Amino acid sequence: MRLTVIGCGYLGAVHAAAMASIGHEVVGIDVDEGKVESLSRGEAPFFEPDLQELLTAGVDSGALRFTTDIAAARGARVHFIAVGTPQQQGGYAADLTYVDAAVEALLPHLAPGDIVAGKSTVPVGTAARLAELIEPTGAVLVWNPEFLREGWAVKDTVEPDRLVVGVADGPDAGTVVETMKAVYHTAVAADTPFLVTDWATAELVKVAANAFLATKISFINAMAEIAEVTGADVTQLADAIGHDARIGRRFLGAGIGFGGGCLPKDIRAFAARAEELGRGESVGFLREVDAINLRRRDRAVELVVESLGGSVYEKRVTLLGAAFKPHSDDIRDSPALDVAVRLRGLGASVTVTDPAAIDNARRLHPQLNYVEDRDEALRGADAIVLVTEWDEYRRELTPEHTATLTDGRVVVDGRNGWDAAAWRAAGFAYHGMGRR
Ligand code: UGA
Repeated sequence: MRLTVIGCGYLGAVHAAAMASIGHEVVGIDVDEGKVESLSRGEAPFFEPDLQELLTAGVDSGALRFTTDIAAARGARVHFIAVGTPQQQGGYAADLTYVDAAVEALLPHLAPGDIVAGKSTVPVGTAARLAELIEPTGAVLVWNPEFLREGWAVKDTVEPDRLVVGVADGPDAGTVVETMKAVYHTAVAADTPFLVTDWATAELVKVAANAFLATKISFINAMAEIAEVTGADVTQLADAIGHDARIGRRFLGAGIGFGGGCLPKDIRAFAARAEELGRGESVGFLREVDAINLRRRDRAVELVVESLGGSVYEKRVTLLGAAFKPHSDDIRDSPALDVAVRLRGLGASVTVTDPAAIDNARRLHPQLNYVEDRDEALRGADAIVLVTEWDEYRRELTPEHTATLTDGRVVVDGRNGWDAAAWRAAGFAYHGMGRR
């Protein structure tokens, strides 16, 4: 099937490459010439496991191409809208400028029977508004939210755990659903749950899922706060409650909290939208979820200060990690970098290392010292802080090896990724988040 993907950022580039890999003919369209050039060469503009291979294969076979020319959308059966919806400047609501611009640009190229499939994360009600613009062209709008995780984006796109398609009632609905099933034919053949809903439900599924995940993380971080004043251990607590299948252990990792380009802005946009709908109180807890999350960054800074005797001034602190999570070079709203910048503000000499995100981090925070090599970064440190749980740090770095490099014997485990007893046995003062 011929498909277009409008917006070739994280979501769009992965979606375009994944759709080409399952046999479609795909044109990716973006206004950013640099991005289009690099994608056209088969180069991924960001770090994402397996994306490079998929892009190269798609571009080489001719099934996948990229352009800045929106007219290339003509003749495609489905047009995916995959542009970003960042947090508004100076507000909490989502900025829909790019979604509106993409739809406006697409309108003259739509033909009757085309499907416009919204993938961007939007406030509920957006689809109904956009449909008024799209329907006069004879095209049909569906809402088809995306649940991919950075670091697993290719797998999540090719083998999603569910597909959701929001369709308006009408004579075309059945054909539209069949076409969307044909788009995702591999997942459908693998019996992936395929849920057909209305537009509003589809829009809400996405923000509800992210709100739930954020709440789960903040719940366990709230327990970490209680553990800190009672001498309990939040990791054992998470293990114990996680055995209850109704609760589940995943996303109960206490630490410096969530960041990235999705969870923080999505819960804020959801709260803002609920206010507009006169139902602010229904998701008022999301403000608390946000506040708990941000407090954990304060707590990590506090722990480093306390563990260094009350001041970090002129102390050498090495942060292991810059990305908002492992397997990603994304530093958007990264708790790791937030902690690094605050420690620097308190007078510490801060060194940051990360296997993938140093270039991005340096662009945003040139004042920090960046060292590529992990061991070089650790050499001479007074304290080390685990802020992104890459395997290089969490699994492969041993306390014994670290002791040969650092001057000090202080570790702050911002991700509760290390074995406290092992670090203590090697002579380190170990400080976890919500752990004794
Ligand atoms: C999130 C959702 O997980 C995806 O399902 C969704 O599609 C995506 O947002 C999106 O809206 O596009 P992502 O931002 O890639 O995906 O990252 P997550 O894996 O959800 O992690 C988010 C943050 O939570 C990271 O900073 C991570 O370190 C933190 N986290 C995660 C914890 O602090 N504790 C945990 O137990 C799990």
